[in-house]
Amino acid sequence: MTDRLLRAMTRAGARGYGAERVSELAHALQCAELARGAGADQELTLACLLHDVGRFAADPAQLSDPVGGERPDGGRGHHEVGADLIAPFVPERVAWLVRMHADAKRYLCSTEPGYHDTLSPGSRHTLTRQGGLMTPEEIARHAAHPWFRDALRLRRWDDRAKVVGRATAPLAAWEPLLRTYFR
Ligand SMILES: [Fe+2]
Repeated sequence: MTDRLLRAMTRAGARGYGAERVSELAHALQCAELARGAGADQELTLACLLHDVGRFAADPAQLSDPVGGERPDGGRGHHEVGADLIAPFVPERVAWLVRMHADAKRYLCSTEPGYHDTLSPGSRHTLTRQGGLMTPEEIARHAAHPWFRDALRLRRWDDRAKVVGRATAPLAAWEPLLRTYFR
């Protein structure tokens, strides 16, 4: 599984990320590095590295929210597909954080004035496909979850991890962490 992920991430380095200007791999590396730099624990950092695994390691035809693509009938969001893909290998919290990263965006758009305007065009584009704004009941339910604060931290690093040309450690630097979980 680690090899499969590494291959998928390497391929993702050659691929654009929908409307974003960085590759999917650069985005994942930047996100994980922001997390590590901020002192995130190993599980949260791993979730950051793999939060878009549903985009780069699964069949895009099964996604309901492809970046910059046509919406197929049915399908599920990349956050759901990605979380299910890694769930057999990682602690529950890691898969949960991956699953939550679209809801974290919906939450911030619903609760934080001005947040929506800071999103990249690609992120704004997929918001509707991911459920749009939250109801007050959804907001309260998410806010009460003990891991939701981590989901919001991941989301903010996700939003910032789209800088063209930012230098990061290579993918190989994350191989030991991946091998710890994906055996
Ligand atoms: Fe992302």
